[in-house]
Amino acid sequence: MQESTFYGDLRDASFRIAFPLNKESDESVLFESDVGSDAPAVTLGVPEYVTDTAWIVPVRDDARKAAALDGITGISDLASAAFLNGLTPKKGEIRVLLSEKKGTVVLCGIGKEGEELDQETLAALSEAAGKAVSANGAVDIVNALPAVPCGELDAADRIRASAEALVEGSYFSSSWKSAPEKRDFSGTMVYILPGEDGRDLADLCQSGLSDGFHAAKAAMDARDLASVPGNVCHPEYLADMARSLEGEHVTVEVLGQKELEAEKMNGYLAVSAGSPYPPFLAAVSYHGAGDEKPVVLVGKGLCFDSGGLSLKPAAGMDEMKFDKCGASVVWGVMKSVIEMHLPINVVGLMCGAENIPGGFCYRPGDIITMRNGLNVEVVNTDAEGRMVLADALTFAEKYSPAVTIDIATLTGGCVIALGHEMTGLMTDDDGLAEALIAAGIRTGDSVWRLPLSKAYAKLLKAETGDVLQSAGRDASPVTAAEFLRNFRPKCGTWAHLDIAGTGWNSRGIKGPTGRPAPLLLSYLTDLSRGIIRDRRGGMMLALDAEGPVDEE
Ligand code: BES
Ligand code: MN
Ligand code: ZN
Repeated sequence: MQESTFYGDLRDASFRIAFPLNKESDESVLFESDVGSDAPAVTLGVPEYVTDTAWIVPVRDDARKAAALDGITGISDLASAAFLNGLTPKKGEIRVLLSEKKGTVVLCGIGKEGEELDQETLAALSEAAGKAVSANGAVDIVNALPAVPCGELDAADRIRASAEALVEGSYFSSSWKSAPEKRDFSGTMVYILPGEDGRDLADLCQSGLSDGFHAAKAAMDARDLASVPGNVCHPEYLADMARSLEGEHVTVEVLGQKELEAEKMNGYLAVSAGSPYPPFLAAVSYHGAGDEKPVVLVGKGLCFDSGGLSLKPAAGMDEMKFDKCGASVVWGVMKSVIEMHLPINVVGLMCGAENIPGGFCYRPGDIITMRNGLNVEVVNTDAEGRMVLADALTFAEKYSPAVTIDIATLTGGCVIALGHEMTGLMTDDDGLAEALIAAGIRTGDSVWRLPLSKAYAKLLKAETGDVLQSAGRDASPVTAAEFLRNFRPKCGTWAHLDIAGTGWNSRGIKGPTGRPAPLLLSYLTDLSRGIIRDRRGGMMLALDAEGPVDEE
């Protein structure tokens, strides 16, 4: 197995909430820091004005001062110098100033005095700042963006949104170059300035910081894994990554070819039959709460999807190494859930397989008896994801899930329907739909609900077998979900997330996005705290049960 090297970006940094003390001094900036649950406020003399400090400073277009850092002479001086030279960035844009005395100063345009910031702009500025800081390097980073009022968001929410975008913005991966560029951020300390309302919300600010940081981490870890090319990442590689999570409160069970045969997962096996690289289904079980029913996440992990005998066109086929984005997201989310010690039970299934033609591969017209006994009539070997997921979903039932969510780059039709902005959500449970939509809005990792209905299910009626594998192109995200519905666990609720359009970018910053890791992590952290949100986000209902609701 070739070693892939993952580099240190802001995932390796330490974070601290801090308040600036208005000391007029050019020598060093004083912070009151460590505002946390029981930690007493301490006064620190760091960071100093040194070249390895990066300042993320909000500035208004019509003001000469650095918002939120007014009393800090050196930085305010820089902001007004920028203003006098016409260098103040427009709202939503940044300008990077490199100063010998003051280090890297990232001026962030927040518009005119009195103009409010919105969550999208806060995230965009933080992301751009993360990118700038990552390019220039830093030991200490002071992020004053969360100190700026932003719509309805309180200090904790501003910190969550800004920290997530800042950390994600610092992402870089050059591990597939023969001479990788090295950017070592280990040892970096990030000071987050929450604004005055943060003083009253110290505990919430801490969890906002942790939530934002871990959401970014989940997405970035998912991006790393999903980026591993098909000649390196075979199904067994995914299983090894799953095994690496084993530890306290975490067990990992791996089903290879033999075990999948014993489980009669013939749909899963059929997809992988053309490949010399055997399939592996890895189950990562995290036990964070007694014997509560778990949330089960099921990720499509097609290490490469050539289409099989129903071969895909050559153009763009290289991108099908990203057909394991679902399983990669499950891995990243499990990693963060484990690190956060969430008081909840979660099982992550990573469904590794490869879909290529070969002497033993499955064919259009084959009738395959699935794990649950249904006979599926194969129409197109390129509709492989649903064959793998179907057997994995019936397998998931053995965990008696309260909620099952599958995540898959499932249909090209979802890209046509929703483009690259929103993930397709299909579920027969309105409550789960609402919770996932809310988590999507909250994190900016949005989903749009598509229908499920008997009217679509009937398009899968088969002449020969029990059910057709595919109903062709019309409404393909929906008919694919209807296919999966035949196999969903009989207990608890179920939702299907089609990330064909959101899982990776073909343009701009190319490669996997790590979506919908932030959405899933937000949903799971809320659940672990007994919070249910509706899509307006503000409405919070406390659960009376200790754990997830069983809809049965
Ligand atoms: N992995 C693909 C879906 C896909 C296509 C994701 C393009 C991202 C970009 C999936 O396995 C597939 O091939 N789906 C087919 C199904 C069809 C044959 C019924 C599709 O959507 O074209
Ligand atoms: Mn396919
Ligand atoms: Zn596929």
